[in-house]
Amino acid sequence: MTGRSSFVVVANRLPVDEVPDEERAGGRRWRRSPGGLVTALHPVLVQRDGTWIGWAGSAGPAPAPFMVDGIRLHPVPLDADEIARYYEGMSNSTIWPLYHDAVEPPIFRRRWAASYREVNARFAEAAAQVAAPNATVWVQDYQLQLVPAMLRQQRPDLRIGFFLHIPFPPIELFMQLPQRAEIMRGLLGADLVGFQQRLAAQNFVRLAHHVLGCPVSGSVIEYEDRRVKAAAFPISIDVGEIDRLADNPLIRTRAEQIRTELGEPKTMILGVDRLDYTKGIEHRLKAFRELLAEGRLTVPETVMVQVATPSRERVEHYQALRVKVEREVGRINGDYGRVGVPAVHYLHQSYSRSELAALYRAADVMMVTPLRDGMNLVAKEYVAARADAGGALVLSEFAGAASELRQAFLCNPHDLDAVKDSLLRAVHVDPDEARKRMSIMQRHLRRNDVAHWARSFLTELGSL
Ligand code: ADP
Ligand code: G6P
Repeated sequence: MTGRSSFVVVANRLPVDEVPDEERAGGRRWRRSPGGLVTALHPVLVQRDGTWIGWAGSAGPAPAPFMVDGIRLHPVPLDADEIARYYEGMSNSTIWPLYHDAVEPPIFRRRWAASYREVNARFAEAAAQVAAPNATVWVQDYQLQLVPAMLRQQRPDLRIGFFLHIPFPPIELFMQLPQRAEIMRGLLGADLVGFQQRLAAQNFVRLAHHVLGCPVSGSVIEYEDRRVKAAAFPISIDVGEIDRLADNPLIRTRAEQIRTELGEPKTMILGVDRLDYTKGIEHRLKAFRELLAEGRLTVPETVMVQVATPSRERVEHYQALRVKVEREVGRINGDYGRVGVPAVHYLHQSYSRSELAALYRAADVMMVTPLRDGMNLVAKEYVAARADAGGALVLSEFAGAASELRQAFLCNPHDLDAVKDSLLRAVHVDPDEARKRMSIMQRHLRRNDVAHWARSFLTELGSL
């Protein structure tokens, strides 16, 4: 496969999973992974002979570039040391906690930072090779913040965009980072730096001034004789996909079956998250336990289902969280479960899109209570899945989604009484009021889906 691309996406992960090939016994093949980002970018990638550069997910040499669904995929290799230092270390034990309000203490290690630099250089190199003259390159997320500047140095002809999917912290927190100036310079290699929230974009502009002394005016930063724009582009979901799933009779039947399997509770409460300490899973469980203890909720009338997708399992903070969550689930079930009716159904598993849609459809109350979250797509998926306008959403004020989903039952997840109060209000909401709230949020999502997000970013980048 030769030829260069006029549109290139650079992300830590490729948007594919390796699965068994039904047509070849013992064989493997690549399948496009579900997810809004790849769905939104697919038409642009296909139209513009686009390439997606990313890591294929395992240690060792990278497979040769290949095509899936009309997209050219260009794998970048990571060895076991780099996975430990660049991915688990700098990306997920330094930057991830620091950017999420330091809800767990970030760990700073020089060896991790060195590996982050080397791996970012490898991604930048791959993009420099693949991009056609004057191409557009869109770099994604916190794992690759040095790529824009590294790429610009090799290819000043390119138009470079960067989007951060997670929060961007305020000055006081960012200043802890030993590589603060390097990261700022890295990001300022882009022409447009996109964030989930306006406040995050403002933090970035202020930091450019504070750390590098750049002149700034509104959302524009002057840096090395160029102008860099920082703005908010709140990401969204593929509303059409969720609509199709929610409309499918098989999924509606499955939703009913889930409720039967749960013992026909009056109220089913649902949580769906990666098992991550930013998601507030423990706080949510504790709120539920206290409501059971106070008799304000009872089993078997009410049950909770908590799906916690395994994530970053070799990172210590994640191992510790798993122990804490599982201890809390055990405690609740020990105290309030009955034979055949646990109070909390805890599922440490990954699910298909259709099973998730059935869960959304079955749940009376969805709890999305992160301590800090860039956006939180689960909240948006739940709203979109309730075409029946049933259900109620309890949502943390600290999720990016809270700026848009104002009709949710909003709460401060650190304030346990407030979480309990919002949960009870959602459980007892009048059905007419619930329908009104859902319909307003659904209208918003229809106008602001992930295709709209990608278009807005790329249009802005193209106009600079
Ligand atoms: P994050 O990006 O931090 O994981 P989001 O809520 O923004 O959080 O996105 C999570 C995505 O992963 C959603 O699209 C959601 O549907 C999907 N997801 C979450 N849990 C599971 C699961 N158990 N199985 C499959 N997909 C999941
Ligand atoms: C968040 C990050 C993504 C990341 C995803 C899954 O959504 O913003 O960049 O890909 O979590 O995490 P993982 O570490 O498995 O890629």
